[in-house]
Amino acid sequence: MSEKKSQKLMTKDEVEDLLTLDYNNVTSEALGEGKGLDAQDLAEMKNLLSAAYKDIECRYKKGLLPFMDLPKDPDILKAARKLADMGRKKFENVVVLGIGGSALGASAVFTALRPLNHNSLPSAKRGWPRLIVADNVDPDGFAAILDSVELKSTFFNVISKSGTTAETMSQFMIIYDQLQRSLGKSSLKEHLLVTTDPNNGVLRRIVETHDFLNLPVPTGVGGRFSVLTAVGIAPLAMVGVNVTDLLNGAAKGQEDAHKPVAANKAYIFAGLNYLLATLKKRSSLVMMPYADSLARVADWFGQLWNESLGKATHLDGSPNPNTQTAIKALGVTDQHSQLQMYMDGSDEKTICFLGVDSFKQQAPIPQIFKDYEELSYLGGHTLAELINFERQGTARALSENGRPNLTLTLPRVTAQSIGYLIQTLEVAAVVSGSLYNIDPLDQPGVELGKKFTYGLLGRTGFEDFKERYKSVVSKKKYIVKSNPTPKG
Ligand code: PA5
Repeated sequence: MSEKKSQKLMTKDEVEDLLTLDYNNVTSEALGEGKGLDAQDLAEMKNLLSAAYKDIECRYKKGLLPFMDLPKDPDILKAARKLADMGRKKFENVVVLGIGGSALGASAVFTALRPLNHNSLPSAKRGWPRLIVADNVDPDGFAAILDSVELKSTFFNVISKSGTTAETMSQFMIIYDQLQRSLGKSSLKEHLLVTTDPNNGVLRRIVETHDFLNLPVPTGVGGRFSVLTAVGIAPLAMVGVNVTDLLNGAAKGQEDAHKPVAANKAYIFAGLNYLLATLKKRSSLVMMPYADSLARVADWFGQLWNESLGKATHLDGSPNPNTQTAIKALGVTDQHSQLQMYMDGSDEKTICFLGVDSFKQQAPIPQIFKDYEELSYLGGHTLAELINFERQGTARALSENGRPNLTLTLPRVTAQSIGYLIQTLEVAAVVSGSLYNIDPLDQPGVELGKKFTYGLLGRTGFEDFKERYKSVVSKKKYIVKSNPTPKG
């Protein structure tokens, strides 16, 4: 199939707009009186965004939002180049051991920018190692990963900012042991890269003691904002992603995020969703890419939005009643499973389509079955047209049903446009934090579950949690078993 057939040729002076935001379908003009945002709401949004802008620029200038400077960090590219050379020469596989913000970004960018069949291509055709992101501790899943790679041609990147995450550290301990046993102690220095906090944590201490290859996660950059640090850049460079372009695109996104709010996609995206959540009771935001390459971007965005905005209290400690849960979907696949609910079911969602103007392939549909009226209209079109018409048709249908939706469009999926998208959405999450008056950078809610797990695993200092767990479990009576054993 002919590649890049439909890509727009641009003159030397024309600069590609890396991302477009179309929000016509959240307005009352499109949705009907009372259903969408009206002119007064949009005017009010401008005021709210101007206040958020002042707040964020002030925090940025004080150095409190270091993720905004990441695209211009020169050190990371040097390290990435070295690793990429080494990886290409010596390894068939790069396995990331990490979870949450230490895994989702690399996964999303890899899926977007390497061929969708990268991992199954033969080595010569692939040209770069495979990337496997081991972000679960399912014993069967982890065993299957290890079974699919040969240790001697595999490089492991352990990523944990805190260095204490039980899942990642357990995987690390298993791999450490296996490398040592199978390839000898010296293999650890060749097969292992540790990415962690530059100063703190047990993983940093281990790195210092054993002198392992290591990279820092910059201070003040949390997991879900860290894909453009060594957390994402190192493994991505090793599997052939153009990380220079990725960072350049992100730098452009950051430049645009400092623009006045009226022309600022990050702010407008945050502002619209905030108003839809607070004025129109849109408590869910469905992120629905219409491209397989962007499927994992929805996973990454889900974490970014949910961990950043799911906060019980405002900064002053008062309850925060309004949040917006991100839900992931994939077009067109989920048109045949989720869309009925979005269209006619519970009416509390905003749908954000993530579209692509030009795909790498067109996939023409042959002009056959001309005598069958039900099929003949398809012949002569392409799958690229079909997927985009389906996205546009679905957006229109939702609007006619009074369901708000907006569309982010990438002209093409390139390292630059993906970098731009990532940076824009990260800024949008922080802008949303300012609008809701919450802290978008912490995640207190996930800590409690971790403490119970530590208690159950017998970690010193967490004995209380084990007791608390046991005291409730022993009283559990509402359990239905399919084959209950009669008592007595
Ligand atoms: O966004 C976050 O901060 C979290 O999702 C973390 O990335 C996740 O919990 C993993 O943490 P760590 O990198 O410390 O192992």
